[in-house]
Amino acid sequence: MAAMSASGRRVFLLGALLLVAVSCHGGFGGVGVAEGLSTRYYAKTCPAVESVVRSVMARAVAADRRMGASVLRLFFHDCFVNGCDGSVLLDDAPPGFTGEKGAGANAGSARGFEVVDAAKARVEAACRATVSCADVLALAARDAVALLGGPTWPVRLGRKDARTASQAAANGNLPGPVSSLTSLLATFAAKGLSARDMTALSGAHTVGRARCATFRGRVNGGDANVNATFAAQLRRLCPAGTGGDGNLAPLDAETPNVFDNGYFRELTKQRGLLHSDQELFAAGGGGRSSSQDALVRKYAGNGAEFARDFAKAMVKMGNLAPAAGTPVEVRLNCRKPN
Ligand code: HEM
Ligand SMILES: *[C@@H]1O[C@H](CO)[C@@H](O)[C@H](O)[C@H]1NC(C)=O
Repeated sequence: MAAMSASGRRVFLLGALLLVAVSCHGGFGGVGVAEGLSTRYYAKTCPAVESVVRSVMARAVAADRRMGASVLRLFFHDCFVNGCDGSVLLDDAPPGFTGEKGAGANAGSARGFEVVDAAKARVEAACRATVSCADVLALAARDAVALLGGPTWPVRLGRKDARTASQAAANGNLPGPVSSLTSLLATFAAKGLSARDMTALSGAHTVGRARCATFRGRVNGGDANVNATFAAQLRRLCPAGTGGDGNLAPLDAETPNVFDNGYFRELTKQRGLLHSDQELFAAGGGGRSSSQDALVRKYAGNGAEFARDFAKAMVKMGNLAPAAGTPVEVRLNCRKPN
């Protein structure tokens, strides 16, 4: 530093300023990283929030285990589109407003909105106009994972809700089932999430279901990297051509309703349900390997390591925030701005 020339100092200062600018406005595809979140955010204003959300989730998952998976997915779809701001929860309000629910990845697919509504209503009854829908969803997703047998983690809170949403942003930011590994890595990197985060987070597919429409090509000859026995079984549910689009298959056929590392063991047998799943292991088939093969093998053999990495990556994903300057509020009803 002492030896830096005047012009060197100017370059250094400019670099430092740029860094500050990038960290304030966020460099991650229109989203930033939340700064003010804290696990004790509602300690004084709504101490009951965690137990209230937990009890609503416990009832929902007891009635329908898939609901845990569905709520977990909602949180992902919230965070990847302009940060975790409850935008995915906004209903369309024609003619003026088209939200994210009709985006390709959500239409006829995203579920769990009623459970979020129920949790929010109970939270509102306990502490009016205090806890954001985005925070309710973050807690609900954490509880869903734990209730299905997965890890738990302290959820950092203090998110605010967006007053609007963007269907175009949802279409542009949510990965699709035929994504290549390269594209998955890029989609997550655009949010500041590493390859390891991406592979760990994909382990969410250890629970839940997918519709035939999302894996038809994969099981009907469109994929080299697929277990032939597995594909033959699935063809009965999901034949070539059309029809049966909505038929459901488990994303992890080994233990479909338990949050464990079975998903990764299935990948090592070429039994990933989606093309995008199988891209994490031996992508391309024919004995070719992918950059994530070693990690998939590790998670397949070590559930504790997967659980740790998944929890860590969920916290990181949960830190994604709307771009600075986005108008926000604590919504009273998760389906519409105040
Ligand atoms: C890596 C890129 C990802 C792709 C391409 C992807 C794609 C999909 C697709 C196509 C479905 C089936 C939807 C349907 O047929 O209705 C699905 C379901 C699901 N996804 Fe993902 N997903 C990805 C990452 C994630 C992440 C990061 C999470 C959560 C952390 C997640 C959680 C889930 C869950 C739990 C389900 C089952 C939902 C239910 O049964 O209602 N996914 N995903
Ligand atoms: C295909 O799946 C079966 C179980 O359905 C398994 O026994 C077999 O090893 C798998 N094949 C490959 C190539 O992994």
